Amino acid sequence: MSTILAIESSCDETSAAVISNGKVLNNIIATQAIHQKYGGVVPELASRAHQQNIVAVVSEALQEAGIVPQQLQAIAFTRGPGLIGSLHVGVSFAKGLALSLKLPLIEVNHMQAHVLAHFIDDPKPAFPFLCLTVSGGHTQIVLVKDYLDMEVIGQTQDDAVGEAFDKAAKLLGLPYPGGPMIDKYAQQGNPTRFLFTQTHMPGLDFSFSGIKTQFMYFLRDQLSLNPDFISQNMADLCASIQHHLIGMLMKRLKEAANQTGIKAIAIAGGVAANSGLRQTLQQTAEQLNWKVYIPAFQYCTDNAGMIAIAAHYKFLKQDFTDQSVTPLARMPIQ
Ligand code: KG4
Ligand code: ZN
Repeated sequence: MSTILAIESSCDETSAAVISNGKVLNNIIATQAIHQKYGGVVPELASRAHQQNIVAVVSEALQEAGIVPQQLQAIAFTRGPGLIGSLHVGVSFAKGLALSLKLPLIEVNHMQAHVLAHFIDDPKPAFPFLCLTVSGGHTQIVLVKDYLDMEVIGQTQDDAVGEAFDKAAKLLGLPYPGGPMIDKYAQQGNPTRFLFTQTHMPGLDFSFSGIKTQFMYFLRDQLSLNPDFISQNMADLCASIQHHLIGMLMKRLKEAANQTGIKAIAIAGGVAANSGLRQTLQQTAEQLNWKVYIPAFQYCTDNAGMIAIAAHYKFLKQDFTDQSVTPLARMPIQ
């Protein structure tokens, strides 16, 4: 029997969730709207907003679950990776609460938690499986051997794919976060109208900085010929850049499946919400006989539900952390 409170504060969502005997009871998320006008997350403002939101978010999670703090068996928190100022807020809050309630602490790796989001609801993948974790901060192909035994077999050497979506959207004059906007316009556009060249990386790694620059120069050249180029071609531009980014992800994912012989494929992270990626994944699954796992939308973007499920598996192993713990901006998955 275990009831755990989990806190997530690695980037720009302040979130808390309660998990009881492996069942996530709720997932309260306060999204920080402040970053919209800056076209990206401003770290200093993110940590201040976490400070403002954290008490209300945690109280709501406990109240909604009908749990009083005395019923908890552990406090879990995201230790990293993430923005250090943002992580500090969640880590310090968790430590203070655990100390006052005399409870053990459970540290969770944010990237491991994105993968473990697949164990919140059914259907749950069987081990081993591959997980493409795609977010604003990360692009990884993870070989998942067990709940807490994972290996990164491919990753970006520069920008994350979510960042490429957001930067492309910014160049098109769309608001932050741009990924969902590109997704929306892309649904009406022609994905092969504008073609871009691929950057070649060794092994199963990715690079997204090249396409960002390529897209910027492409738009600059077109705008010099026609100042209305973007507004006249918004849907085709969004469809084409999205098609290119999905192509880069799928190429590596197919290679990873080939190399490992694994046909159970999961996606996680904010970009897993992309309808084009979901569709392409389903089509590829039919062609290559893959079994595909996509978590519910609320568990794709940053959330404490995924921290809670990761904490549950750590609790089963009595894997606790002491009060001297500090956050880590970089934290390997294992
Ligand atoms: O996992 P997440 O919430 O936060 C990070 O850990 O970064 O991912 C946020 C990223 C942003 O870059 C956002 O633009 C992207 O996920 N995103 C999408 C979509 N929804 C969110 N990208 C493409 N299509 C979407 N529908
Ligand atoms: Zn994330």
